[in-house]
Amino acid sequence: MIKRILSGIQPTGNLHLGNYLGAIHQWVKLQNDATCLFCIVDMHAITNWQDPSQLKQQVREMVAAFIACGIDVKRHIIFNQSQVPAHAQLAWVLNCVARVGWLDRMTQFKEKAGKNRENASVGLYTYPNLMAADILLYHTTHVPVGEDQKQHLELARDIAQKFNNDYNINFFPLPEPLIQSATPRVMSLRDGKKKMSKSEESDYSRINLTDNADTIVLKLRKAKTDPLPIAGNDILDEHKKIKSIIIEERPEMVNLLKIYAALDDKPLDKILEQFAGKQFSDLKKELADLMVEKIIPIGKTLSELLADISYIDDILSEGKKRAMDLAAPIWSAVEDIVGFLKIR
Ligand code: TYM
Repeated sequence: MIKRILSGIQPTGNLHLGNYLGAIHQWVKLQNDATCLFCIVDMHAITNWQDPSQLKQQVREMVAAFIACGIDVKRHIIFNQSQVPAHAQLAWVLNCVARVGWLDRMTQFKEKAGKNRENASVGLYTYPNLMAADILLYHTTHVPVGEDQKQHLELARDIAQKFNNDYNINFFPLPEPLIQSATPRVMSLRDGKKKMSKSEESDYSRINLTDNADTIVLKLRKAKTDPLPIAGNDILDEHKKIKSIIIEERPEMVNLLKIYAALDDKPLDKILEQFAGKQFSDLKKELADLMVEKIIPIGKTLSELLADISYIDDILSEGKKRAMDLAAPIWSAVEDIVGFLKIR
């Protein structure tokens, strides 16, 4: 049974199709199941330097994007992480629970730090412990994320388990990832083996939720493909999943088809039937039409909402209060469990 849902997103620049399909689109579908916490993780964002005035604006943009994508902001709790200090407090305790060897295995750190490991911030390295704190602080049971966050979720479970063992108490529930099978890992339009990301230099690699129709059409026209016609249903295995050899050999085709299926909310085999044997120019054209239909209204609403900053700030203020109310008893219990003397 789903008890408590929490998810997070970094307010670092443009929201793109990967964030939409991998996260917010899923959140919208889940929002009738429970009261959800949606955390805008500004503390995670500064693990790489952010322009301070832009960071503030980006938090507001994220709230506007949630509303524009269909999240009911009255019902759910929307807040920015830095405003609930217990996230940082619990993260410290979890720093002392997690092991260096565990963090050494995190692939996201390796990807983000690259060859320049010595020069990466310590925050970037310990980031998964803060993410575990975000989750555990609310006794979260379910965490809807994209595939790329699965390893961090597993770490959060390991940390919860070790905390429970170390203090001999069944305190933190082990959070489950909610990764919908229809949720694609959205890949770059320029390289089907790299995930679509805001940190990628070329803007042609991604579709931003604020792109206009001409830009969307152009980006798709320029998207990398291969010279063969589009495959049919024979690329699916018995579980209706794309065979790994095809993902290896034709990643760009797979990416465009999966994006189409996710945006159209249809199973992949239906989309394969629709395009089997056709040329990429056909797929690109139809995908561009579909994207314009789905993405442009979001961008438009988003810009309109940003005209009223006080409305956005009121949502964050209300969210902060509600999040603090939920976090307070759990943090207080952690203090007791680990033996912090409370002085009033
Ligand atoms: P972030 O900000 O990188 O991404 C936010 C959400 O979008 C998903 N996502 C994608 N899904 C599919 N294809 C892509 N190309 C793609 N790019 C991003 C991510 O899986 C994520 O669900 N560490 C997290 C934020 C976080 C968090 C949390 C999440 C902090 N604390 C607690 C859940 C619970 C991150 O950097 O996501």
